[in-house]
Formats: sequence, structure tokens, C-alpha cells
Amino acid sequence: RHPGWPAKLGPLRVPAGVLAVRPVRLRDAGDWSRIRLRDREHLETWEPTGVGPWPDRNAFWSWPSQWAALRGLARRGQCLPFTITVDGRFAGQITVGNVIRASLRSAWIGYWVSSDIVRGGVATGAVALVTDHVFDYGGLHRLEATVRPENTPSLRVLTKVGYRQEGLFERYLDVAGGWRDHFCYAITKEETGHGLVSRLVAKGLAERV
Ligand code: ACO
Repeated sequence: RHPGWPAKLGPLRVPAGVLAVRPVRLRDAGDWSRIRLRDREHLETWEPTGVGPWPDRNAFWSWPSQWAALRGLARRGQCLPFTITVDGRFAGQITVGNVIRASLRSAWIGYWVSSDIVRGGVATGAVALVTDHVFDYGGLHRLEATVRPENTPSLRVLTKVGYRQEGLFERYLDVAGGWRDHFCYAITKEETGHGLVSRLVAKGLAERV
């Protein structure tokens, strides 16, 4: 067992509904595939370039190997791969990856939300839940999020939650078929005070249920 894994986080009421976060499951295959096949346009511009065509990479039968790989990394303490649910239904993913321990104790965070539920505070709530969790129970001190400068919704999410812009990584990541510049946003434990969820609640952006 590694610190902070497995875990269920929330629930939290946000404008879209009741938000919770839990480990990815093998039986997420159907929802995961259905939503991602439909949402290609919504997602592909922002995600790392994959091998092979989108319909193959996101087919029902491609989830078991992705799930097994994520589970293996989680068991080794290198990743915390979560499913986001709203009103108990699959609504996206949020992942903490490349967990480095020792004196760095840092990782990246990444997320996506189903297109039919965007602009309802889901990503904001999920980033707050997961950030608090890895700082309080996962033994981490810093989280980093890299975002394309064109990705206004994601930049907004990070700013709302309290991540800071640290810089611009030029030609950083192979996304949507090219080496794309990314802003680096980050947060360390000292900046979170009594927690990011508490801050959202105080601002009236979420409610504990
Ligand atoms: N222009 C300006 N602002 C916008 C736009 C737009 N076109 N679209 C959304 N927003 C704003 C919303 O109004 C909201 O801000 P507000 O609360 O100040 O009004 C904010 O962006 C979105 O906040 P949430 O509702 O919490 O976020 P949501 O649940 O909609 O999810 C996400 C945001 C994850 C970026 C979603 O749009 C998505 O899945 N996009 C595709 C995949 C993606 O880009 N993932 C992030 C990659 S970067 C990373 O992982 C670090």
C-alpha cells in the first residue's frame, strides 16, 4: 500500500451535481469509451498524441489494458488514477502521475470532463479534492499542471483553485500531433492553508454533502 491510495474523495455539491472521485475501475470501460468516442473534438486538441487512430485508442476493448497499466503504476506508488463521478455517474478522469518521492515529493495532475457536463464546476471541485488529498495523505509537497496557453477553461480551473503560473515550457509536450508550448502552473502544500476545498466552500463554489 502506498500513501493516499486507494481513496474515495468527496462528495461535494457543485453546480453540475454531486461530485465524487474514486479509483478507476475495469467496469468504467463502457462509459469511458462511449463518452470519449463522442467527445473526440472536445478532448483531442489538449491530450498527448496517441499511437493509432482515436476510435481504436478509445474503443471499449482498449480500456482494460489502460486500466491495468494505471493500476500497476498506482500499486507501485507512481500514480493516483481517479475516475470523476457526478450524481454517481462516470463524468471524466483526474490523474496524479509521475510521482517522485524523496526530497522532491512532487507529481503532475491532469484531468478531463465529459462535454455534456462542462462549466458546472466539476473540474474545479475535482482538482481541489485531489490536491488536498495528496498533500494531506499522499505524502506530496508540490503538484504541477501543464496547460496549453489556448486552453482557457483549464487555465481558469487552475486559477480558481489557487495554482500559480510559474513559467512557459516551450515545445514541451507532444499534443495533438505537434510539440506544443505549455504554461506551467504549480502549487505547494504551504499555499493551501486549511485546504483548497474549504476555500471553494468559503467562496460559495462548492458545498460539502
Ligand atoms: N472561454 C472562457 N472561459 C471558459 C470557456 C471558454 N470557452 N469555457 C469554459 N470556461 C470557464 C468556465 O466559465 C469556468 O470558469 P468560471 O467558473 O469562472 O465561470 C471554467 O472555465 C471551467 O470551470 P469548471 O466548470 O470547474 O471546469 P469543467 O468541469 O468545465 O472542466 C475542463 C474544465 C477539464 C478543462 C474541460 O473543459 C475539459 O475536459 N476539456 C478538455 C480536456 C482538457 O482540456 N483537459 C485539461 C488539460 S490541461 C491539464 O490536465 C492540466
